[in-house]
Amino acid sequence: MVGRAVRRHCESSGDFVIAYDRQSLDVSDPDLVMQTILANKPEAIINCAACTDVDGCELDHERAYAANRDGPENLAKASEAVNATLVTISTDYVFDGKKAGFYTQEDTPNPVSVYGRSKLEGELRAQAAHPSATIVVRSGFIFGKGGTNFLSTVVERARRREKLKAISDSFGTPTYAWDLGVRLRELSQLKHAGIFHVVNAGDGTSYEEFARAALDAGGLAGASLESVEMDSLHRPAPRPRNSRLKCLTTPAIGLPPLPFWKDSLVDFVTLGESWGVKSEAGANG
Ligand SMILES: NC(=O)c1ccc[n+]([C@@H]2O[C@H](COP(=O)([O-])OP(=O)(O)OC[C@H]3O[C@@H](n4cnc5c(N)ncnc54)[C@H](OP(=O)(O)O)[C@@H]3O)[C@@H](O)[C@H]2O)c1
Repeated sequence: MVGRAVRRHCESSGDFVIAYDRQSLDVSDPDLVMQTILANKPEAIINCAACTDVDGCELDHERAYAANRDGPENLAKASEAVNATLVTISTDYVFDGKKAGFYTQEDTPNPVSVYGRSKLEGELRAQAAHPSATIVVRSGFIFGKGGTNFLSTVVERARRREKLKAISDSFGTPTYAWDLGVRLRELSQLKHAGIFHVVNAGDGTSYEEFARAALDAGGLAGASLESVEMDSLHRPAPRPRNSRLKCLTTPAIGLPPLPFWKDSLVDFVTLGESWGVKSEAGANG
């Protein structure tokens, strides 16, 4: 989901982009990663690859750590070899969710799942391998074109008249994959190594409130949506109850907040098969 948005945005900004999927570049293979990067000598690498199936990670640790820990480390070593900037995406799930307010870079990660632990290890290994030019971007509650998660598919599923359940007691800061992609490119150009929290503006929301806003935007306010509590789902992986993020460093480097999440959600729902935001969709179809 995020990789496609990044590719589209960078290409439409005039960058020469080489994009890979898992079949063409397995980021857990150190030799292949090094060879590929040495052959292409990119100025910047934006790593959107990850094992994102949170419950799947709980059941298959090896796959989780290969993609989420070894992947960023391999890419950081290869970035160092060609003096490239590495932007690697991490997650709000590095936090345990016990804090009442927003998590900032000053909060200590304490992941509660294999997914969260593997992503945190990826952050640390990448930073250790290429400290001067690794940019870690933590995000969360990401929705967008091509996404298969609840947030990305709720409207489509309501249109198919599926019965929907949404969690009312788990909170995050929604992030439109398109807006994230724009910010990832900006960060790769500014080259400030460190950890950034990148989410849309606003106070955050629950899955249920997000789903109701998405259904409203899609003209489906009457669709059936059952409110459920997180624990009632009995999923294999524990999740943080609150993983809302705020960034302490973005204003200091002159970057404005991303759009308010409800505005980006309206763009996502109303643009259908087009990309990104209205101006981009108009310019590029
Ligand atoms: N979605 C969210 O709400 C969310 C929240 C916080 C952070 N993030 C982070 O945001 C980033 C982008 O996530 P997304 O939502 O765009 O996920 P996505 O749609 O699942 O995309 C991840 C991609 O990585 C690929 N991949 C998996 N293992 C790989 C490997 N070893 N080598 C190369 N590619 C591999 C997957 O391929 P296959 O599909 O073939 O396995 C998939 O194409 C990830 O770092 C994720 O952890 C996501």
